[in-house]
Amino acid sequence: MTYQTIQVETNGKVGVIRLNRPQALNALNSELAGEVGEAIAAFEADAGIGCIVLTGSEKAFAAGADIKEMAGKDYMDAFFGNFAADWNAAARARKPVIAAVAGFALGGGCELAMQCDMIIAADNAKFGQPEIKLGIIPGIGGTQRLTRAIGKAKAMDMILTGRMMDATEAERSGLVARVVPLADLMNEAMKTANTIASMSLPSVMLAKEAVNRAFETTLAEGVLFESRVFHSLFATADQKEGMTAFVEKRAAKFENK
Ligand code: HXC
Repeated sequence: MTYQTIQVETNGKVGVIRLNRPQALNALNSELAGEVGEAIAAFEADAGIGCIVLTGSEKAFAAGADIKEMAGKDYMDAFFGNFAADWNAAARARKPVIAAVAGFALGGGCELAMQCDMIIAADNAKFGQPEIKLGIIPGIGGTQRLTRAIGKAKAMDMILTGRMMDATEAERSGLVARVVPLADLMNEAMKTANTIASMSLPSVMLAKEAVNRAFETTLAEGVLFESRVFHSLFATADQKEGMTAFVEKRAAKFENK
């Protein structure tokens, strides 16, 4: 598959998607969003892939939705065209997706990173929802996911002022899982992705689904869901292999079944 706005490669069991519109700091236009969706769908369909890493350049993960593409739209274009409604492939993915963020992650770029399951940030990362300065608001989940990630006080601060948050504040606030030196970003992301991909894929996918339930339901329902999934995993060969390997003091060899 040839893409125009992203680069895609496979490294062992890890699929890597690199946003690649350097002339626009990886701003998200319809073409890029479509290609990210296609690349994620291809990795989802590939039984050899256990984890996906989504990244950008050292200067920008993505500086937001493409303002030049959006500027001329009127309400009817946005409403009837259902603008950006399908820019959520990362959030819909069943396999885990890690965002490896260096530089600017602004507007739709910050939202795209938050659609992923975990953000690993370089120490030069800057997060923000500056849409308010353009007379709009976040449009692909920012008001909801940022609030869940960092709480109302800081989400209001970010979304109403449009200010940026550096990597240290982002980690302190719970937006990112880890901060590493810029030079180590891809190593750290790939190491983490390989660790995840070495586990039993059904248990990884179900663990992700169970964590995500925490944002959708009550504690009692979420714990019930967890319990049902927990019991179901005893039907897998990988549960037998994982526990037998522990008892036999050897590394488990999972076969995703
Ligand atoms: C289109 C963009 C862009 C964007 C940068 N560029 N961000 N083009 N859309 N979001 C382009 C610039 O126009 C410029 O192109 C080139 O990238 C380099 O950018 P500079 O501004 O020259 O770089 P710098 O001075 O380093 O400033 C970096 C920056 C700034 C602080 C990130 O570019 C910036 O503020 N960008 C806009 C950020 C933003 O408002 N994002 C939210 C968008 S709304 P030229 O051709 O001039 O060299 C949004 C809504 C999402 O995301 C809703 C869901 C769809």
